Amino acid sequence: PLVSGAEVVPAAAKAGRGIGAFNVIQLEHATALIAGAEQTGAPVILQISENAVKYHGALKPIGVATLAAAAAASVPVVVHLDHAMDRDLVTEAVSLGFTSVMYDASKLEYADNVAATTEVTRFCHDHGVFVEAEIGEVGGKDGVHAPGARTRPAEAVAFAEATGVDALAVAVGSSHAMTERTATLDFGLITELRAAVAVPLVLHGSSGVADRDLTRAVEAGMTKVNIATHLNNVFTESVRRTLADSPSLVDTRKYLGPARDAVAAEVARLLSVLKAV
Ligand code: G3H
Ligand code: ZN
Repeated sequence: PLVSGAEVVPAAAKAGRGIGAFNVIQLEHATALIAGAEQTGAPVILQISENAVKYHGALKPIGVATLAAAAAASVPVVVHLDHAMDRDLVTEAVSLGFTSVMYDASKLEYADNVAATTEVTRFCHDHGVFVEAEIGEVGGKDGVHAPGARTRPAEAVAFAEATGVDALAVAVGSSHAMTERTATLDFGLITELRAAVAVPLVLHGSSGVADRDLTRAVEAGMTKVNIATHLNNVFTESVRRTLADSPSLVDTRKYLGPARDAVAAEVARLLSVLKAV
């Protein structure tokens, strides 16, 4: 079923479990992610980014399809708007029935980030929607990698308290859109942030993080772990292989189906790496 972030994220944080948050671009992603979660019995977060909305030209078609897939799932599924900088997109996601929103004002100065995030948080909470925000911008969103960015614990505490957000994305060494899993995480900082910040922590750009470090990050105190690029890699590798093996193939189901199955299997594997069950 479709559930709120509030039903699964705080409980996972309390229990020391991770929650996989994976990006949906096409419908095949949504069905693959749910199938992978169902193989393990773990809850899962399906997230649609502002970039994916730009790709489709609108939120509604892919958003409504993802919500319908979530409602039919046998495991708890959160449908989340990822990295929204457009305030109107937040309103639209909430009215469509999304159960979680990330409002990303991390490019703004601290005081402006606080003001904008506080307003969005009030709006979302009025509608029963879980809110994530970001501080200490994780790099790579615009193609510029910034693995050196770090969130200061005192600032994270003040930001979470001032805004009332339900989860906080922090910069601890990862960077978005890495195609090699070679990121070096600052586990000491994760431990410090976990001890200081009251709300669950979110690791962005986790495609660049190796399996053992994903597990260690959860053990050190990260809860929601966002993975997108890595699964696109799995999907596209499968498509490439199928098309290379069968150059005369034209039915899209014949190469998208195996790619969907490959993503589902990798999601099931990642959920156990993240101690999500
Ligand atoms: O918000 C989405 C993520 O942080 C995914 O980043 O594509 O580097 O795994 P990634
Ligand atoms: Zn991200």
